Amino acid sequence: MSYQFAEELVGRTIVITGGGRSIGREMVTAAAAAKMKVAVMEVNQENLDRTISEIKKSGGDVTGYVVDLQVESQINEVIAKIEKDFGKIEVFVNNAAFHDAEDLLGSSLEMWNKTFAINTTAPFLCIKAVLPGMIARGSGSIINIGTVNSKMMIGSDSYTASKAALHAISRTVAVRYGKNNIRCNTIVPGTIATEVWQERIDRNPAVFENLKSWYPLGRVGKPSDITAAVLYLASDQAPWMTGTEFVVDGGLLAGFAPMYPVVEGSD
Ligand SMILES: NC(=O)c1ccc[n+]([C@@H]2O[C@H](COP(=O)([O-])OP(=O)(O)OC[C@H]3O[C@@H](n4cnc5c(N)ncnc54)[C@H](O)[C@@H]3O)[C@@H](O)[C@H]2O)c1
Repeated sequence: MSYQFAEELVGRTIVITGGGRSIGREMVTAAAAAKMKVAVMEVNQENLDRTISEIKKSGGDVTGYVVDLQVESQINEVIAKIEKDFGKIEVFVNNAAFHDAEDLLGSSLEMWNKTFAINTTAPFLCIKAVLPGMIARGSGSIINIGTVNSKMMIGSDSYTASKAALHAISRTVAVRYGKNNIRCNTIVPGTIATEVWQERIDRNPAVFENLKSWYPLGRVGKPSDITAAVLYLASDQAPWMTGTEFVVDGGLLAGFAPMYPVVEGSD
């Protein structure tokens, strides 16, 4: 996809968690192409190094920081280091996530806690760490990556609950810190074909094909679909958008595409 980059993004600092692969990697690539100054917080050293070196080869201003977002001290140390290295953090994207495909009865407490640690507690801690700088400067954009699962039951039980809490945190930040000119929004993606689906693809190689019919636009999403929304919220083109659930889902939440012909008796 060729993006239309807003001019004011040039030189703006953005931190993206989980930028080593999939959607996060696309965000990092696009932000660097927009000439933003990009910091990547990622637990997987190999993926991080690959992403950073490829983007640097094409001239991007990108720096990687290895961090396990399950560890509070690591989060605080890395964010303090990024603020020192970059001078300020203007945009922060909580993208990293952990997905446990077990159903409720199959979910262990250990996996439930891990899911909440990465998907809910880590964004809370990251937001806590970046807010003081944003408040001091009187501006900032925090972008949390949520999910359509938070809006309706479509499996992945612990993941869904953890992300629903993240949606709530976004509203809290938006309302509480709006007076400081800090915007906080949740992007709500539908199915995006990424590496996190590999386990499910192994179980059923036709999983994306089978999901298509649920999407009014006739396809599942691509990482660039979400990245375009991130760059918009990072820019000055969305100055009055805060506290929103910015749905980017090919129409999934608008209605059950396979249902209306059944209702109409024309299936
Ligand atoms: N792929 C989808 O269908 C889909 C749908 C809706 C929402 N989302 C959301 O989009 C975002 C990106 O999804 P994705 O498909 O690219 O996921 P992914 O699993 O492919 O990538 C997640 C990244 O986060 C990193 N990460 C995981 N745990 C970490 C930790 N403890 N510390 C630091 N980094 C860690 C991983 O190493 C990986 O690079 C997630 O927030 C996800 O919930 C994805």
